[in-house]
Amino acid sequence: MLPIHRILTSTARPAVSRAMRTSRLPISSLNTTFAKAFTTSQISRQEAFRIKPSVAPGTSTGKDTPLLFQPFNVKDLTIANRLVVAPMCMYSSKDGYMTDFHLVHLGSFAINGAGLVLAEATAVDPRGRISPADTGIWSDNHIPAIKRVADFVHSQGSKFGIQLAHAGRKASVNAPYNSEAFSETEYWRDDVVGPSGGPESRWDEKHAVPRALTVSEIQDVVKAFGAAAARAAKAGADTVEIQSVHGYLIHQFLSPVSNQRTDQYGGSLENRARLMLEVIKEVRANFPAEKPIFMRISGSDCVEHLDIPSWDIEQTVQVSKWAKEAGVDVLHLSSAGNTPLQKVAYAPGYQVHYAERVRKEVPGLPVIAVGSITGGKQAQEILESGKADLIAGARTFLKQPSFVLEAARELGVEVAYAPQYSLAKTL
Ligand SMILES: Cc1cc2nc3c(=O)[nH]c(=O)nc-3n(C[C@H](O)[C@H](O)[C@H](O)COP(=O)(O)O)c2cc1C
Repeated sequence: MLPIHRILTSTARPAVSRAMRTSRLPISSLNTTFAKAFTTSQISRQEAFRIKPSVAPGTSTGKDTPLLFQPFNVKDLTIANRLVVAPMCMYSSKDGYMTDFHLVHLGSFAINGAGLVLAEATAVDPRGRISPADTGIWSDNHIPAIKRVADFVHSQGSKFGIQLAHAGRKASVNAPYNSEAFSETEYWRDDVVGPSGGPESRWDEKHAVPRALTVSEIQDVVKAFGAAAARAAKAGADTVEIQSVHGYLIHQFLSPVSNQRTDQYGGSLENRARLMLEVIKEVRANFPAEKPIFMRISGSDCVEHLDIPSWDIEQTVQVSKWAKEAGVDVLHLSSAGNTPLQKVAYAPGYQVHYAERVRKEVPGLPVIAVGSITGGKQAQEILESGKADLIAGARTFLKQPSFVLEAARELGVEVAYAPQYSLAKTL
C-alpha cells in the first residue's frame, strides 16, 4: 500500500477529469457528454449505495468495549452504539417536505457513526408546525422524501427515527432564520390551538392567541399521530419518537401551567395525561409491533422559583409508568420550554438527573439522557453509573458531526469508520 502522503498527493486522476483537461470541447458540453446517461436520482442512488460499509461506522471493533460503544437492543431495533442524534428543527422545509438539506444534514451523522439518527419535530397536522418551514408527515406525499433520508441513513448501517410532533399554542411563528421566505398567508395565526384558549393562554406577545381544542378535535389530533406513525413505518423509520416535551401540544396538556381545562382532559394528573396516553396507544396501534416507540418528555417546567402549580419530576415519574404500560419502549428526558418564566440551570449534563430518577423508579423502561453532554468520558460516566441507557446530543452533533468518532478516540475505543473516511483514522 502507498504511504499516506503518496495517497493524498497521488497524480492518478479519474478518467473523466483527464479527458476534461485534454479536450478542446467547452466544459459545459463535456458535462453533458459524461452525465447525460444519468438522471439526478440515478446519480444520487449510485453515490449512496455503491460503497456500503461492511460494519456500521461507530461500531466497536475491539475488545473490552465500554458501555457507550456496546450495542443497544429494544424490540427489533439494534443500535451499534449508545449515541443518538437528538431531534433538531432545521426550519428548512416548505409544505412539510424534507429536502436535500435533510439528506446531507442527517446523512452526515450516519456517515460519522451515530447509532441512531432522530429526525426533527415533524408535524402530524399542518396546524401543528412551529413555522411554515417545519417538516411534516400529515400527508402520504411526504413519505418519499423521508424515505430517501431513511434509506441513506440505513445504507451507512445507522438507524433512523422520526419525531412526531404538534406545536399547539406555540405554532405559526417565524422560522428563526428564513422568515422572509414566507408570505403572511402561509401562517395560520387565527387557527392556533391548545388545551386552553384566550389571551392568558398565549405563550408571549410574539405568539398567536390560541383557542381551546374541542374534544372531537382532540380525537382528530390523536388520529393524526396514528396516521403519521403509519407513514413513518412506510418511510422505513426504525422508531418514532412522540414529542411530549418543550411546551408543545402534549406537554401543554400535561402541565397545569398551560392546561386550564375543566373537562376530562384537564384538572387531575390522570386527565392531563389523557391525551398523551391516547396518542401512545394510537401510535402503537399504527406502528409495526416489532418496532419500538420512543417518547420525549419534560422532567420539569423549571419554575420551582415560582409558587405555581407546574410540571415536575414527581408527575414525570408517575406518567412514565403509565406511558410504559401504554406502549412506550424508550423514554427521552428533557425539560422546560412550557413558559417564558422558566429558569433553567444550564450546566454540563444539566438534565441527566431526570433520566436517572425515571430509570431508578420505572424499572424496565430504558431512558435517554440529553443536554450539554459533550465528551466521550462524560457520556460513558453517565451510562456506567446507571443514570441512563443511551446518550443524545443536539448542539453537540451540530458542533461536531463526528462526535461519535471523537468520543471513541477519547475513550481509546477502536471503531469502524465509513470506508470513504477511513484515512481520518491516521491523523
Ligand atoms: C437547533 C436545535 C433544534 C432543536 N429542535 C428540537 C426538536 O425538533 N425536537 C426536540 O424535542 N428538541 C429539539 N431541540 C432540543 C434538542 O433536541 C436537545 O434536547 C437540546 O438542545 C439539549 O441537547 P444539547 O445540549 O446537545 O444541545 C433542538 C435543539 C437545537 C439546538
